[in-house]
Amino acid sequence: MKYLPISNKLFIKNRKNFTTQMTPKSLAVFNSNDIYPISADSTMPFEQHRDIFYLSGVDQEESMLVLFPDCPKEKHREILFLKETNEHIAIWEGEKLTKEKALETSGIKTVYWLQDMEKIMFEIMTQCDTVYINTNEHYRANVEVETREDRFTKWLKEKYPAHAVAKSNPILQRLRSIKDNIEIDLIQQACNITEKGFRRILNFVKPGVWEHEIEAEFMHEFLRNRSKKFAYTPIIASGNNANVLHYVENNQQCKAGDLILMDIGAEYANYSSDMTRSVPVSGKFTPRQKDVYNAVNRVKKEATKMLTPGTIWEDYHIEVGKIMTSELLGLGLLDKNDVQNENPEWPAYKKYFMHGTSHHMGLDTHDYGILTEPMQANMVFTVEPGIYIPDEGFGIRLEDDVVIQEKGEPFNLMRHIPIETDEIEDIMNS
Ligand code: GLY
Ligand code: MN
Ligand code: MN
Repeated sequence: MKYLPISNKLFIKNRKNFTTQMTPKSLAVFNSNDIYPISADSTMPFEQHRDIFYLSGVDQEESMLVLFPDCPKEKHREILFLKETNEHIAIWEGEKLTKEKALETSGIKTVYWLQDMEKIMFEIMTQCDTVYINTNEHYRANVEVETREDRFTKWLKEKYPAHAVAKSNPILQRLRSIKDNIEIDLIQQACNITEKGFRRILNFVKPGVWEHEIEAEFMHEFLRNRSKKFAYTPIIASGNNANVLHYVENNQQCKAGDLILMDIGAEYANYSSDMTRSVPVSGKFTPRQKDVYNAVNRVKKEATKMLTPGTIWEDYHIEVGKIMTSELLGLGLLDKNDVQNENPEWPAYKKYFMHGTSHHMGLDTHDYGILTEPMQANMVFTVEPGIYIPDEGFGIRLEDDVVIQEKGEPFNLMRHIPIETDEIEDIMNS
């Protein structure tokens, strides 16, 4: 792991929050992700399942966590099953969690090797009536492969058909959407690394650079600051590429006069950051680019103010749509007729701003959170309006990550990342 150790207080607290919501005589199981194969003996880099990480801090494949808060045997109230390691295995396979290290990481005292799992599971399954399984109910989830969690669930339901089944996911969606201060600090660190990357490229971008060269500059800064990777596939989109919302080729040359839209964020300790900035290749915005940029920036500022406890995500989007409509009228991109005749299902502003303004952000970039429930303090959201104008050869999006406060405006985790046009031009020309 490149990140520094995280206090196990976070994971102990997260488990307590989870188990207090379980029904009597129940246990819950969480599995790590598989290491996904490519072909031959090649594999994708391991990415831990965010739920087992959230509840234990274990960042290793072939791991399993069991929570059984009212187990008659106290030592079985929290169990980790891990892939066996010893000094010999460590030489061949590299460092893995020992039982002592697993305790230090997670605060869990009972650690068994995976080969004992079926035997221990039999004992504790006979002591409970309900088993919580962990299905993926994220509103954007679209998964074709069978995960390790799915395989385990199948096995468990087949072997123990008389147990009642309950869902972990709604509990986790609610818990994970409200961030602990330790988590906010980790997200802040991810944002700070992203800031370093952005400042680095502001002095690197000039006519003739390639989009992938900009991507490389970010990666350099991320890795040297203990981020293992981009939090999501970055978008480095110059000129009209910015109008392809999911442009990830990043293989074109940046031309004088164009803007570059960069939607890019570092991960740190599995926590994401999610930033978008749009900067001029030549270091100076044209008057038209500046007008559109400032309109997006105003929408962003107004939207941010609405992220307060009690706000409903859907109502918020309707309000942001009204502000965006008025900016688009000001820019001459819409006229009164467009707005008067608009289809309420697809308002006129969506011609230029067709995606959402905000999503939960955390261990997943599009994090857990139940969108029909009111916003609460310590939720982290992005704010990311944009205006996309293929006819004019550019698109602009600005995106920051903010924490909802009990009172007042949200706290901006990207407050130090340059966003005003003057500041960006000054740095680019310094
Ligand atoms: N970068 C993904 C998003 O902005 O939602
Ligand atoms: Mn983004
Ligand atoms: Mn985003």
